[in-house]
Amino acid sequence: MEPAVAASAAAAKISVRDASKAFHRARSDETVEALRGVSLDIADHTFVSLVGPSGCGKTTLLRMLNGLIKPDSGTVLVNGKPPEPGPAMSFVFQSFRLIPWATVRGNVAFGLEVNGIPKKEARDVADHYLALVGLSKFARAYPTELSGGMKQRVALARALATEPEILLMDEPFASIDAQTRELMQIELMRIWARQRGVVVFVTHSVDEAVLLSDQVVLMGPRPGRIVEVLDVDLPRPRWEYNVRADPRFIDMRTRLWTHIREMVMSDPDSEFFRRNAGT
Ligand SMILES: Nc1ncnc2c1ncn2[C@@H]1O[C@H](COP(=O)(O)OP(=O)(O)O)[C@@H](O)[C@H]1O
Ligand SMILES: [Mg+2]
Repeated sequence: MEPAVAASAAAAKISVRDASKAFHRARSDETVEALRGVSLDIADHTFVSLVGPSGCGKTTLLRMLNGLIKPDSGTVLVNGKPPEPGPAMSFVFQSFRLIPWATVRGNVAFGLEVNGIPKKEARDVADHYLALVGLSKFARAYPTELSGGMKQRVALARALATEPEILLMDEPFASIDAQTRELMQIELMRIWARQRGVVVFVTHSVDEAVLLSDQVVLMGPRPGRIVEVLDVDLPRPRWEYNVRADPRFIDMRTRLWTHIREMVMSDPDSEFFRRNAGT
């Protein structure tokens, strides 16, 4: 299968070739093909979003990119090598994974100290990123004292603070209220405009994907696969004009939505129906 994005494999920062991954569910004795034959090249300095119905393998693909999950077959290369967790990559998990016994500042500084940054400097950098996500006043608070949205912002600050070459984000704004979410989207665009690494961003929001990305990768379930890759050639910086009113923006979101709706409606086994049937 041809790679879904037209960047040559040699030039790609991230290169996935024909990757497949199945999970066996012991309880129901089913095998789920989380991903089948996925190929994707991501060039350096690009912002890529993964969208698609629940259960189409977005999280699995993201975890494959940083080596948390190995494909059953196929290859994943980052900078030409199999991926391994390290300072070049940061991951913002769906479930924030904060250290409960460390303060907010401690949580953000932790990753820096692990990378060998002296304590004082790590604290200063942590404070800078906490200010960016609007949490300066909570630097001394503990995670249990925070709302879900605030925890998610701490997780974001922690991931950004190490200024990684590759930032992998799994629905990082899912539990943030709509207003804060818009501010965080702009903040993320500003940070990325400055650092210009690779961001791979999983979201349920088609609007968010189009707003932020250079490319939107639409995935489909059963088996999890790439359906289409859209190039988003809207001018940047996108926070300086009403990008949502641009006819190209509207066309892309409509196209993605129509596809997703068709996939969900034509799949009676979809997790959407399972959830709504209460099983
Ligand atoms: N560790 C696991 N064990 C069993 N099944 C899994 C596991 N991880 C994911 N799956 C299944 O693989 C499919 C893809 O999951 P996932 O990558 O989490 O999808 P998404 O993030 O798009 O919602 C789903 O059907 C999910 O239930
Ligand atoms: Mg997921």
